[in-house]
Amino acid sequence: MKYPGAAQYRPDTTDLTALADAAASCRGCDLYEDATQTVFGRGSAGGLMLVGEQPGDVEDVAGEPFVGPAGQVLNRALAEAGLQDTPSYVTNAVKHFRWKAARGGKRRIHEKPSSAQATACRPWLAAEIAGVRPKVLLALGATAAASLFGPGFRLTQHRGEKLPWPPEAGDFADDDTPIEAALATVHPSAVLRAPADRRDDMYAGLVKDLHVVAALLG
Ligand code: URA
Ligand code: SF4
Repeated sequence: MKYPGAAQYRPDTTDLTALADAAASCRGCDLYEDATQTVFGRGSAGGLMLVGEQPGDVEDVAGEPFVGPAGQVLNRALAEAGLQDTPSYVTNAVKHFRWKAARGGKRRIHEKPSSAQATACRPWLAAEIAGVRPKVLLALGATAAASLFGPGFRLTQHRGEKLPWPPEAGDFADDDTPIEAALATVHPSAVLRAPADRRDDMYAGLVKDLHVVAALLG
């Protein structure tokens, strides 16, 4: 499936408020149809920029990223790494919630956005990067990592590693935002989904990678 993409809805500005306003009426792919609203990034420029996958059920209703269960895990891990007061901007690779109805029930089950949907939405992510000009850019999970570092990026091999910006592959290979370091780590939702006997290790791994981020931020 090929989508028209977000570029035609994106104003030529790096002003984050103007971008968020415009993104509210984006129709760049089909995901706006079944979601409540666009969930744009929010936070402060110039520090740490965190990129998740897409808003979850709670975020779709609230209109803000990482305010549900995954956000709680993330905030706890950030605090453990001493990053709770670091200027941070939080966003997602895809700005609308992709879900399917649970069989028989009213519950909405998260579905991973397709790479075509991530590509359609990438103009917003590019504009946010240009507007935030982060010192350190962190991908949370494989979807964000693929959107930022290219489809061949292997999270299991490169998590917690300081990566160059611009990346070698993907749509950001020509990006000229002066970012000191980029990294990828696991998604906080993966910690929540992990089997009970793996959860503590997964969480510890997330905190460990965030300590690398803290060291890079100085
Ligand atoms: N998971 C994400 O990737 N992003 C959110 O905003 C919430 C959950
Ligand atoms: Fe636009 Fe992204 Fe929403 Fe698709 S997911 S409609 S590209 S904001």
